[in-house]
Amino acid sequence: PVTTTINSEHKLFIGECSLEDLVSKYDSPLYVLDEITLRNSCKAYKKALEKYYPGPSLPIYASKANSSIFMSNLIASEGFGLDAVSEGELLTALKGGVPNEKIVFHGNNKSDKEIEFAIKNNIKVIVDNDHDLKRLEEISNSFNHDIEIMVRFTPGIECHTHEYIRTGSFDSKFGFGIESLGRLFEVISKTKHIKLTGLHAHIGSQIFELDPHNDLGKIMVDVILQAKDFGHNIKELNVGGGLGIKYTEEDDPPSIDEWIKTVSLSVVKACDKNNLNLPILMCEPGRSIVSTAGVTIYKIGSFKEIPGIRTYLSVDGGMSDNPRPITYQSKYSACLVNNPLNSNSKNKYTVAGKHCESGDVLFKELELGDCKTGDLICVFGTGAYNNSMSSNYNRIPKPAAILVCNGEAEIIQKRESPHDLLKYDVLPDRFIKQS
Ligand code: LLP
Repeated sequence: PVTTTINSEHKLFIGECSLEDLVSKYDSPLYVLDEITLRNSCKAYKKALEKYYPGPSLPIYASKANSSIFMSNLIASEGFGLDAVSEGELLTALKGGVPNEKIVFHGNNKSDKEIEFAIKNNIKVIVDNDHDLKRLEEISNSFNHDIEIMVRFTPGIECHTHEYIRTGSFDSKFGFGIESLGRLFEVISKTKHIKLTGLHAHIGSQIFELDPHNDLGKIMVDVILQAKDFGHNIKELNVGGGLGIKYTEEDDPPSIDEWIKTVSLSVVKACDKNNLNLPILMCEPGRSIVSTAGVTIYKIGSFKEIPGIRTYLSVDGGMSDNPRPITYQSKYSACLVNNPLNSNSKNKYTVAGKHCESGDVLFKELELGDCKTGDLICVFGTGAYNNSMSSNYNRIPKPAAILVCNGEAEIIQKRESPHDLLKYDVLPDRFIKQS
């Protein structure tokens, strides 16, 4: 978990930085990332792979969880590769210094421009569907350029997670159905410039069970054998991401060590059984790298008491900086920055965002100590899928993001201003400018 400390005045610190001081300096809402927690999660993946997988391996950071030049730079310095799903994420990875050969390019509807960008930059493309393959074939032929690809397939594994983030079942929009792989492998053998070197599957996100990934290793090795029958030598096996994190006391995810152990042993066992050389084992964690390293600080504004029903407490952000509660009914934990243990009376609040929408509620019944307008709330576990899924709904500028480490705070993303949001608006000349 994030490295929090509480000083003698009961004030909350992260990375040895006072959150109250950070807000005085950088304003709120504020995203804060703790460098030590980030590096510890990266190291836990590397260490577990070394411990449990006797073959070569490459952990890849799923940058959709939190994409920035800083994040790309940090994960590259930890020896990670990166998974990108758009030209924007690819560019951010390259600008942050991730080596081209460690980047993979995903997507169920890549544009020609994106595919060309990837090929020109020698970035490996993960082919998702027939259309993708056709475009790649045409583009590689037109460049007269050999390319290595990986193929994504749906292994038909069900796991217990939110419907929107479940991707491994047969009716997923991603990847080739497992039953269509024979035909696909034949088509790929007949292409001029395309070499199939890897397989990919991702079964979902925020998963707490280990069994689905145990099954996945075995299924993927079966597909290596099938590909072999068509003359393809699969040297890379990418098992996707999905390890869940602890957002609240009720959540009980396995550790990174346990997850990697499960994945590694299932691949090793299936390879041994079939006399196969161990492939390069890749995994694509996103949430479990960055989620717990991040917190969001909000300032409390208005209160509205509805006697006998609830008390609303409104904060200065909400669904534009964290769309997860309204999208997936996600739960978080939080505390007051200047009374983190919630001592004195415990009240329950419905914490509302400031957006013009009744559903913009971050917490339904949050227990907090006494609090008043101007106090700060720290929401934990917001490092993943908050900043990267943020919007400008209601023309609300995106918060700044700060990195903390050993008492030093550095800005990694500047706060937007309402003026920034006007940058792309155009008023055609025939309309009269009002002012
Ligand atoms: N690889 C692929 C191909 C993926 O689609 C994903 C997540 C990952 C890796 C990383 O999964 P993770 O380790 O982060 O679970 N917006 C949702 C999560 C969507 C996940 C999409 N794909 C949320 O806020 O919960």
